[in-house]
Amino acid sequence: MCGIVGYLGKKPALPILIQGLRRLEYRGYDSAGVAVMNGEIVRMRAVGKIDSLADKLKDTKIEGTVGIAHTRWATHGGVTEENAHPHFACDGKLVIAHNGIIENYRELKEKLTSLGHTFKSETDTEVLAHLIEVNYKGDLRLAVETALAQVRGTYGLVAMHANEPNKIVAARLGSPLVIGIGEGEYFIASDATPMLAYTKKVTFLEDGEIAEIGLEGVRTFNLRDELISKKVEEIEWNDEQAQKQGYDHFMLKEIHDQPTVFEDAIRGRVDLEEGTAHLGGLNMTDDQMRSIERIVLIACGTASYAAMVGKYAFERLAGIPTEVDVASEFRYRDPIITDKTLVFAISQSGETADTLAAVREAKRKGAYVRGIVNVVGSTIARETDGGTYIHAGPELAVASTKAFTNMVAIMILYAIQFGRLKRVTLATGQRLIKALLEIPEKMNQVLKLNDQIKVLAEKYSGYKDFLFLGRGINFPVALEGSHKLKEISYIHSEAYPAGEMKHGVNALLSPEFPIFAILVKDQLYEKMRSNIEEVKARKSPIILLATIGDEAVKELAEDVIYVPDTMELLEPLVNTLLLQLFAYHMAVILGKDVDRPRNLAKSVTVE
Ligand code: BG6
Repeated sequence: MCGIVGYLGKKPALPILIQGLRRLEYRGYDSAGVAVMNGEIVRMRAVGKIDSLADKLKDTKIEGTVGIAHTRWATHGGVTEENAHPHFACDGKLVIAHNGIIENYRELKEKLTSLGHTFKSETDTEVLAHLIEVNYKGDLRLAVETALAQVRGTYGLVAMHANEPNKIVAARLGSPLVIGIGEGEYFIASDATPMLAYTKKVTFLEDGEIAEIGLEGVRTFNLRDELISKKVEEIEWNDEQAQKQGYDHFMLKEIHDQPTVFEDAIRGRVDLEEGTAHLGGLNMTDDQMRSIERIVLIACGTASYAAMVGKYAFERLAGIPTEVDVASEFRYRDPIITDKTLVFAISQSGETADTLAAVREAKRKGAYVRGIVNVVGSTIARETDGGTYIHAGPELAVASTKAFTNMVAIMILYAIQFGRLKRVTLATGQRLIKALLEIPEKMNQVLKLNDQIKVLAEKYSGYKDFLFLGRGINFPVALEGSHKLKEISYIHSEAYPAGEMKHGVNALLSPEFPIFAILVKDQLYEKMRSNIEEVKARKSPIILLATIGDEAVKELAEDVIYVPDTMELLEPLVNTLLLQLFAYHMAVILGKDVDRPRNLAKSVTVE
């Protein structure tokens, strides 16, 4: 998605803005631009990566200490320099950058054209710039407020005006904005990463709020122009944490983060003595929890596969009927929601528009609505009536990895907590907690297979199709493994519950159609083994993920990778890492942009 950065202080703004845009690259973009107050407003834009913009700027001498910058992910209009932000209005005195979609921009454009305004781009943002200009009477914040009152849609907006050179106005409705409070300097960005090197003190603009940032500080107003006080939060990520720490890609770093961040997810939340978990943010009494008759897990992408694992855990441990719904479906279905329904919104970014809309729909229908979210202070975290942060740390690679395993961890903790109120015995609860505490070591054992997995990926890098197979709780693992492979290597891949092979998919089996099957020692082992034998008989190459010590499976496949055993419900926390590494190495071998795969974004904050 698009990214916004703004700076107001005493240092030259340009290097801070460019560095800030680089921190936001992971969001996915196709062009970028900056505008700096330098007596007048100096603007530069470029199609392509940040380097293209930096190259265009290297011979310019822009000293200004106030500026805004933007990375654009095209929604209205093609990928052109003219469509890149920031956008001027008629004269070069007003400039804005904007994330989101102005739904009524066409009618506004017609009205402004009839007033004599001319447009250079195809964007909705430029229309907004002219709308602000036509309302400008010397106070930028009031002009923005008046203009936004005529707008339908979503925005995260920053604006500057040459008549008020030491001011940035920011407004938020549906597209996140974070304000960083430094020593006599202020930052504003779509998330905290561009400001981490300078300050960890932040405030989060809420929907419908407008901030006026000046040298004397930040004033925040609601749309009724009432001054409101904002809580300053201290975020725990430092700049170093958000970097690659020596790995070739963010994705590889984040795969290797998993043992550590898994510990962060369960720390202080497990109770071995009582064999249960305590997730404080749930904001539900034990009686309310016991009264829940149905759980609905809503999510998108990788988070939806984590939700599928959660389904097994809730039904197995808590005995509560649980369904998984991709958010873009849930929000347009007629979901059956009662006051005994508990809806979990699962989201790494906490900003995915489809998931946020589903949250609002579920709240409207009276469900308990809770979040399982990574980004502190994100919209979904704030709009749900409680929930749990997954503490995965900044996940910057577009393809989600550590957020997946931490989402699974939190849902297993919830399933234990609910289960111990109903039918899980102390002994079972303690066994689960003990097994959870052993997971980081088992994850590390899988990460040590890195070189073996790399060799495997090289061996299979010529295939054009893949099929991932799993049963039971490993079916969502197969789905996530397939999702990872297609996301970053662009190889077509699918995943199936292995029992389904005979109902159609067998037709695809051939020497050109490799199978990656999860055959671990659990209650479905024999069933899965016979599925593999069917596949073997039809000559598809087979890669097996198997349990350490199971030598018998070697006759089934030429490539077997062994992972440590664990309780069945916790298998996804171990097995998934192998599939993440397989997809990662495949993408590297095929020369793909691993952290920023084509056509994808880290967080899709528009429908
Ligand atoms: C997609 C991302 O756009 O959104 C995926 O590319 C992610 O990696 C999905 O799983 C859902 O995002 P989130 O932030 O709601 O978990």
